[in-house]
Amino acid sequence: MTDLVVEARTLVSPGKGLLAADESTQTADVKRLAAYGIPTGPEMRRKFRDLFLDAPGIEEYLSGVILYEETLGQAGSDQELFPRSLSERGIAPGIKVDEGTDSFPSSEDELITKGLIGLSERLLAYKKQGARFTKWRAVFRIDGDRLPSAAATHENAKRLATYAKEVQMAGMVPILEPEVLLDGKHSRARARAVIAETMGALFSVLQEQAVDRASIILKTSMALSGSESGRKDTPEEVAEDTVSALMESVPRQIAGVVFLSGGQDPDEATENLAAITKRARQARAPWPLTFSFARALQEEAIRTWGGKDENVEAARAVFLARLRKVAAAVA
Ligand code: 13P
Repeated sequence: MTDLVVEARTLVSPGKGLLAADESTQTADVKRLAAYGIPTGPEMRRKFRDLFLDAPGIEEYLSGVILYEETLGQAGSDQELFPRSLSERGIAPGIKVDEGTDSFPSSEDELITKGLIGLSERLLAYKKQGARFTKWRAVFRIDGDRLPSAAATHENAKRLATYAKEVQMAGMVPILEPEVLLDGKHSRARARAVIAETMGALFSVLQEQAVDRASIILKTSMALSGSESGRKDTPEEVAEDTVSALMESVPRQIAGVVFLSGGQDPDEATENLAAITKRARQARAPWPLTFSFARALQEEAIRTWGGKDENVEAARAVFLARLRKVAAAVA
């Protein structure tokens, strides 16, 4: 095994997973701080990251944390830079390297991920700052049979493939995240079909471009009925459709599959993940599976914290309790 494959396999090692702490500065301010009545700005974002990244005991459950550029250069309350203090505890620091989305010119309700320009230079800088793996997120919106369009799917797949190659050349592990959004009225069957189609398109482009599959990690949504469908799926339904969609579209050679929480509430995301783990074992899915949640791991702790120093300890206890449950779901 090459060093990169070992690094990728370590990120998906049994019973551990990833914390996605890579919200852009804008998302962190608006959706994680202001949304809970917490003041915004660089120092509050540093405290927000510190709440999670310097919580004692996280190393038991986390193999890695995905950071945003700003956090790579920030220090915790112990004055130690976050990438360094994570590494010292055996947690690999990763970095989100895409630069968000633009609307897709030929299909304006769709999004295309940007960030390839200057990527190789940024990768060198991130690596110097201690990053060991990376993430690129593409977004697919479902609208009946109309969206996602074949053109947007293909363009996002091409960019994911270019990203993956550059990252491997820079000696880091790429996480490829084609996220199928929960928003909408669609059925679970439609979400299942879109997951299988987007994965199919992605892996065919990866093959054309000869991207080494053994060191990539795939980050995916679960197959769920749309948030405005009025339908609540059982964990068994979600597990059946998620695992079968992935088994028909994802090659066995990749290092692993990680799940995003996508706006599900923390209990729902945890229960669905546990059912997926069980179903994947029954179906003899060929890849290790684990979590890479942002919202479902952080939401309850942010509410408890409320931006106040005196609540840090209680908020960390809430975070650790959730992390323990989510890690138990993949054990
Ligand atoms: P959620 O778990 O909140 O969906 O976030 C995961 C992620 O990394 C989205 O890009």
